[in-house]
Amino acid sequence: MAENERLRLAIIIGSIRKGRFGHVAAEWLASRARLRPDFDVDVIDLATAWLPDVMSADPSAPRPQAVKDLAPWLEAADAFVVVTPEHHQTFPASLKNAIDWYDEEWHAKPVGFLSYGGSSSGLCAVAALRQVFGDVHAVPPHASTATSRGFSLHAHAHTDVDLELRGRVLVGLEPGTVFR
Ligand SMILES: Cc1cc2nc3c(=O)[nH]c(=O)nc-3n(C[C@H](O)[C@H](O)[C@H](O)COP(=O)(O)O)c2cc1C
Repeated sequence: MAENERLRLAIIIGSIRKGRFGHVAAEWLASRARLRPDFDVDVIDLATAWLPDVMSADPSAPRPQAVKDLAPWLEAADAFVVVTPEHHQTFPASLKNAIDWYDEEWHAKPVGFLSYGGSSSGLCAVAALRQVFGDVHAVPPHASTATSRGFSLHAHAHTDVDLELRGRVLVGLEPGTVFR
C-alpha cells in the first residue's frame, strides 16, 4: 500500500486524572484501529503533554514549548478519535485546554468520540464536544460510541460484545453508524 493512501489516526486521551480509566479505553480502541492495514495510529496522552493552562494576553506571543512539541502530532493526523469521560455533565478541563491551544491543527478534520462515564455514558460530554469542535472548524461526524464504564468495559460479556462492535464501526472495520 502506498504511503499516501494511508490515514493517520490520532487517538486523544482526554482525562489526565490520577487513577483515570481513559488510557484503558484508548489502548483498547488503538488495538482495534491497528487492525486496519490503511491506518497509522498515534495515541496522544494529554497527561504527559504538560500543556500550560495560562495563555498569553498577546495572540501573537510564541507558543509555549509544550504546545509546540505536541503540534506536529496533531498536524500529522488526518482524523481524530477523542476518548472522553464525563465530569460534571461535560468533558474534562484538560481536553478543553488542549483544544483551545490549537487552531489550524483541527481544521476540516473528522473527529470521532469514544465516551464513557456513569449512568449517562459520557453522552453529555460528547454533546458539548461536538459544539466545541465545530467552533474550531473540525468535522464531528454523527458516529460516536459511548459506554457506561461499569457495565460495558468491565462487567457483562454481552455488552463487551456490543462495545467491541461499536468500536469496530468507529474505526471503520465494520460498516455502519453507532449511536446510543
Ligand atoms: C469530578 C467527577 C465528576 C463526574 N461527573 C460525572 C457526570 O456528570 N456524569 C457521569 O456519567 N459520570 C461522572 N463521573 C464519573 C466518571 O465519568 C467516571 O468515573 C470516569 O471513569 C472518569 O473518567 P477517568 O477515570 O478517565 O477520569 C464523574 C467523575 C468525576 C471524578
